[in-house]
Formats: sequence, C-alpha cells, structure tokens
Amino acid sequence: MTILPKHVAVIMDGNGRWAQAHGHPRIYGHTVGTEKVEEIIRAAADTGIRYLTLYAFSKENWQRPKAEVNFLMSLLSSYLDKKAQLFITEGLVFRTIGRTEDLPKPIREKMGRLAEQTRHHKGMTVIFAVSYSSRLEIADACRKIACDVRDGKLKAEDITEKTVAGYLDTADIPDPDLLIRTSGEMRISNYLLWQISYAELYFTEKYWPEFGREDFMKALEEYQNRERRFGKTEAQAGAAAIAARQSAAKKPHGEGER
Ligand code: FPP
Repeated sequence: MTILPKHVAVIMDGNGRWAQAHGHPRIYGHTVGTEKVEEIIRAAADTGIRYLTLYAFSKENWQRPKAEVNFLMSLLSSYLDKKAQLFITEGLVFRTIGRTEDLPKPIREKMGRLAEQTRHHKGMTVIFAVSYSSRLEIADACRKIACDVRDGKLKAEDITEKTVAGYLDTADIPDPDLLIRTSGEMRISNYLLWQISYAELYFTEKYWPEFGREDFMKALEEYQNRERRFGKTEAQAGAAAIAARQSAAKKPHGEGER
C-alpha cells in the first residue's frame, strides 16, 4: 500500500435489509453484522491503519422499536464480553464517542473497563460511536466553549477551528481520511460532520453483513487512486502528496501518533 489512510470511519449499514432479503427477521442481520466487526477490525489493523471508527448506534437509533433497541443493546453487551480478549491479545485501544451516559449502566461499565484496560496499548485505536449524534457533539462543544469564555478560561477572540476541534469527543484523534458506508445509501447520517470535512467518501452497494476483508481492501485501493487536494491546485496537491509519502517512508510505523 503506498498511501494508507491513518483513520478510516465506517457506517455499518444494511443489517435489516440484508436479513429481510434472506427471509430472516431484521434482528438476525444485526447478529451477523456484529460478527463481521472483528473481520474488519483485523483487516484494518493488519494493513497498518491507526484509527478505525465504527458507527455502532446513533442517537436517532433509540427511536427504533423497543424490541430492536433492546436486542442491539444485548448484542453490544455480549460483544464486549466476547471480544474484550481481542483488544488485549492484539494490543488494540478501545474508545467510545457519543452520549454513552444514555446506555444501560452494565454496558457503560464494560466499556469503561475495556477503555481503561487498553488505554496504554500501542496498536490501532478502535472507536465505537454509540448513542452518537454529530450535531449534538458540536452543540455540546459550543456550550462548553461558551462556559469557558464565561468563566474566563478562554477568550472569545482566540477561538479558532483548532479550539472547536479540541472540544469535540474526538479531540485527540486525527480526522478520518476515508469514510466507508455500506448498503448503497449515500448519506452521512449525522456522523462525524466536522471531522470528515476533507475525508474521501466511499459508498458500496454491499450490505454490512456481506462486507468483508476483500471489500475493505477494495475501498483502500480506491482511496489510493483518489487525489486529495484540500482546496489546492492539482500541481500543489501533487507536490504535497509526494512530500507526505517521503515523510511517511522515513518514519517507523506508527511513530509520533496519538
Ligand atoms: C444499520 O443497519 C446498523 C445499525 C443500526 C448499527 C450497526 C450495528 C451493528 C453492526 C451491530 C452492533 C454492533 C456491535 C459491535 C454490537 P440497519 O438496521 O439500519 O439496516 P437497514 O438500513 O437495512 O434497516
């Protein structure tokens, strides 16, 4: 891989439709979808990606039928029981973003324990977005900034983009370079709106339960063929890309991150 995204964000969509298309109830799709998570975590870690953010449950998902919400919560809970070991043996860091206080206490506690246990790991950071809403995250940041200005901790005239980014849940995480959404829907669905300003977007028709390692690699290949210009001209962007490649080649794997 020549240029590798440092951070990949994924919208794991299409569990329900996949299940229905195969004559199963929607919740069966969530079970199979959950089993797929490990395959993509392993593929990303094997490739050398440093951050992987997975949209596991949105703030809006609470509005789904109660039985489905309960089922998703029980899946999340058993996922944490079964897969904690994966984070330990593979040296992965576990983190969450979103309103985790909305979750049932046992799940919050399991997440807190796993985050604490894996905080010092050196491998890829896996970020679960749970009860997450990007607009809410931005509104929360605005409120905290306003409070800090009121309390004299921050001057209004000193507020920059960097200040705002520092008040988001993702404060110390680099912005995603690549966003993947499965299931053919071409929406962002209130996901990392601030953070994906310059991310490359990749949409695939495959439903999440049928999205595997090979599909993930295909997305990475497509990412490598995109020209990221960050608002610059083609010539400027080309020169910057060469410089970035040379600097990445000099650095030992993962150095200077996090
Ligand atoms: C979208 O499918 C998926 C979600 C609501 C969240 C993703 C959840 C999982 C992969 C399982 C939970 C994850 C863990 C780690 C426990 P959908 O129901 O919106 O599908 P549809 O668009 O076909 O209805």
